[in-house]
Amino acid sequence: MGFNIAIDGPAGAGKSTIARKIAAELSFIYVDTGAMYRAIAYGLIQQGIGAEEQEKIAAACESIDVKIAYQDGGQIVLLNGENVNPFIRTEEVSRMTSSISVYPVVRAKLLELQRTLVAENDVLMDGRDIGTCILPNAELKVYLTASSKVRAKRRYLEYVEKGQAANLEEIEQDIIERDYRDMHREVAPLKQAEDAVVVDSSDMTIEEVVACVVALTKERMGVSEA
Ligand code: DC
Repeated sequence: MGFNIAIDGPAGAGKSTIARKIAAELSFIYVDTGAMYRAIAYGLIQQGIGAEEQEKIAAACESIDVKIAYQDGGQIVLLNGENVNPFIRTEEVSRMTSSISVYPVVRAKLLELQRTLVAENDVLMDGRDIGTCILPNAELKVYLTASSKVRAKRRYLEYVEKGQAANLEEIEQDIIERDYRDMHREVAPLKQAEDAVVVDSSDMTIEEVVACVVALTKERMGVSEA
């Protein structure tokens, strides 16, 4: 029997940073599902398709090919064979991703890929609907959250570090709007699974969150701390 970990939560809660560290520490395969949605959004932007153009999006989804691979211990997303990791973390792509991830056709496209990955490996997967839809039987579900202020500040610092222009108030406003869209869409909205452990990282360091989830995992796996 495998052991799967599902981590869900709103944008900027620190899911991917934390998930990457936990997966490395516990030797799990980390699957960043947000990056898959981002790759599709990026592909649509490249084709000049707008977030409202549902028919074009449906047609594009038929020909778009998304795969993930692992390089130097990290996940890379391949869009039609091209590594698009360097292009999917901009505000434009974030906004487009949140808008197009409401469409069933987009979600169906990735559902199959995500289920295949789970069938073949024990995974730590993060996203919005992992504990509720993709891995309903995950051995550990974590709902990782933080206040919108703290999340905006973290995103802001990420952009500054990368030398990209950023405005803190705009980022917070964007986060609030994205939360609303992610939580209120009809298909697979972001919500806490009933059996999820809630971790509020507002006043926690990355290391504290990692230690907390690693301890929860070991407890569930029946591994005692040395
Ligand atoms: O986790 P992230 O910020 O990279 O996710 C980007 C967007 O993708 C987010 O606005 C919601 C969407 N998403 C989703 O709908 N379902 C997932 N499992 C993961 C992400």
